[in-house]
Amino acid sequence: MNVLVTDPIADAGLDRLRDAGHTVETAYDIEGGDALVEAIEGVNALIVRSGTEVSREVFEAADDLVIVGRAGIGVDNIDIDAATDHGVIVANAPEGNVRAAAEHTVAMTFAVARSIPQAHGRLKDGEWAKGEFLGSEVNNKTLTIVGLGRVGQEVAKRLDSLGMDLVVYDPYISEERAERMGAELVEDLHDALAAGDFATIHTPLLPETEGMIGEEELAQLEGGYLINCARGGIVDEDALAAAVDDGTLAGAALDSFATEPLPADSPLLDVEDVVVTPHLGAATEAAQENVATDTADAVIAAFNDEPVINA
Ligand code: NAD
Ligand code: MLT
Repeated sequence: MNVLVTDPIADAGLDRLRDAGHTVETAYDIEGGDALVEAIEGVNALIVRSGTEVSREVFEAADDLVIVGRAGIGVDNIDIDAATDHGVIVANAPEGNVRAAAEHTVAMTFAVARSIPQAHGRLKDGEWAKGEFLGSEVNNKTLTIVGLGRVGQEVAKRLDSLGMDLVVYDPYISEERAERMGAELVEDLHDALAAGDFATIHTPLLPETEGMIGEEELAQLEGGYLINCARGGIVDEDALAAAVDDGTLAGAALDSFATEPLPADSPLLDVEDVVVTPHLGAATEAAQENVATDTADAVIAAFNDEPVINA
């Protein structure tokens, strides 16, 4: 069978497919659009990460496609309705990068609370700016977690152990589940944000969550820090940049943006107290090996008419 891979995945996944007897072609310059519509002819499995837009036009042109494998969690770059209409399986790798994403969230929390990138930059520029950075501890502070799924739970465990009180907003989980994580479940998003000194976002990007954190929500978190290592479109970037710039928020840390790659026009890039990374949440060797091999296994299972695990 022919497998086309359009975003870089670990060699372990490519090797697993080749060892199973399949032909694997990599084309990492394809981001979607006409180039993918052209390349998809004769392809039986397409493997992507977040860098390829798999649109309805791709499914319409993909007569031989059995499965789209997403070597990661979010499937917001894949037109799921179109896949269903064309009988194509979409399989993500829901577990392999969860710990990497949670660790990155914790790192970003400290980065923004202690101005680590800013202080680092000043020292590298030859300045000893010790007197200019007075940070916040996480100990004895409240963390609001929006979305207590896989990543949210791993973040909860780690920051709970560092002395934070946990408040959760997630309309789809039970009070018992929140309690098991040592968190208080709050029914209203505004109340949850108002209770937090830090707020961290861990929902998928869905029509329901797109833009869910806007000017009014940020105002509830007054004086606090917002961390978003989920998806860019969930937070209104203009509102966030304004809120940090005018001091409504103490700072923000972001790993994902409404426009990727390179959100060159995002106002967030110009705000001093906003810490940014280029979608690095899953960028560890272990996570990349995990998601690559899990995705290869899903593709092989689909080719063998075996059940495909995803979430
Ligand atoms: P998950 O599906 O396990 O959990 C998502 C949680 O969000 C669920 O508990 C769900 O009930 C909750 N939720 C859904 N709609 C909600 C709403 N309107 N309000 C509040 N909560 C809502 O997903 P996950 O594996 O924990 O991933 C979380 C996010 O992190 C996703 O957006 C994923 O794409 C992203 N992610 C990013 C990186 C990265 O590299 N930055 C890495 C991994 C995951
Ligand atoms: C994910 O949803 O898993 C993340 O976007 C990680 C990635 O693929 O870079």
